[in-house]
Amino acid sequence: MQHRQTAVLTVDPIHPDPSSIERAAALLRAGEVVVFPTETVYGLGADALQTSAVERIFAAKGRPFSDPLIVHIADEATLERLTISIPAQARQLAKAFWPGPLTLILPHSPLVPKLVTAGLETVAIRMPRHHVALELIRAVGSPIAAPSANRFMHVSPTTAQHVLADLNGRVPLILDAGPCEVGVESTVLDLCSRVPTILRPGGISLEALRTVLPEVQPPPQHVMTAEHATHGRTSLAPPQGSLVANARSETEWESRSPGQLLTHYAPAVPLLLFDGAVEAMRAAMLAELQKRLERGERVGVLVADEDVAAFRDSGTVVQSLGAAAASEQVAGALFAGLRALEEADVQVILSRSFDERGLGLAIRDRLVKAAGGKVIF
Ligand code: TXA
Ligand code: MG
Repeated sequence: MQHRQTAVLTVDPIHPDPSSIERAAALLRAGEVVVFPTETVYGLGADALQTSAVERIFAAKGRPFSDPLIVHIADEATLERLTISIPAQARQLAKAFWPGPLTLILPHSPLVPKLVTAGLETVAIRMPRHHVALELIRAVGSPIAAPSANRFMHVSPTTAQHVLADLNGRVPLILDAGPCEVGVESTVLDLCSRVPTILRPGGISLEALRTVLPEVQPPPQHVMTAEHATHGRTSLAPPQGSLVANARSETEWESRSPGQLLTHYAPAVPLLLFDGAVEAMRAAMLAELQKRLERGERVGVLVADEDVAAFRDSGTVVQSLGAAAASEQVAGALFAGLRALEEADVQVILSRSFDERGLGLAIRDRLVKAAGGKVIF
């Protein structure tokens, strides 16, 4: 694709300057792409109703057309235009969580271009909780289709600097409103299946969804976890672990939740994910670390505040995400932490895992994906 100048415009996250919003809106109306902040991650937006504009999203990201996009709206009236039927559950969830990091999968109306939905009968819709995003959508006068503003397969961006690192020269404008508050992408909830099912855990926890709809199901286990490897925890044996998934269930999952397979996500640096009781997990990480340092490797560790002391003098680059039990804090720091280790030029990242409570489910999902599905016990 053609190289062009990328402008970065600083905007106030609460009271964005109307002329900055208008500059971005004019580009979007003219069929261009613009990067804008949301409460989860930065999005790479285009007018959702202009097919040629949406095409530019795929070109800028290098994303395959088989991966559908989320349509961002600023009012519920637009929900009516984009869908053919709105179940009562959707109304209840919207009332409780919109604007906010919840994406609903609903049957789409003929208004939605095929490119947005990857030819599926459904469309993903959310109302973001960020003033800049909402004002931009209103100023454009059309819903905005937007994936995360990273190159395909890379970690989602939570700052404008992350966006620049991936998309400099590939987009005309980035609205910079500082770091995103939530730090992981929205929860994608399928309301077209018999039982409402999470397709991607994210910024709204399973527990929170169940306060409104007790029947909500978590994503199928096989995508979430890996088989327990049986080698000794403290041995220096090479890490093992195998993804629990057979071809048939992967195909079924892929058709239901395109873009969520483990193979669709790989960080720039290989990541080994450790799990288990805290003491044993730390010991296994230290053993692996020792082995790699002896081989002369440059290693980064992704840990929680309470692990830092154990790694401080270990000769590694230590990146802490916050207190392990504070899942909102850890989620907020996760992608920036991964990118910081990439930039520190480490050859491998050893990461601890986090339990599944609250945003922990989303944190675990992203770490398992970053590890290519392999978890070391
Ligand atoms: O927080 C977020 O959701 C961010 C911000 C920018 O809003 N967006 C985001 O978009 O994470 P993206 O494109 O990186 O992820 C969208 C995912 C797709 O990969 C796919 O798994 C799911 O949403 N999706 C979209 N449309 C779908 C559909 N019709 N059926 C099932 N899943 C769908
Ligand atoms: Mg993405």
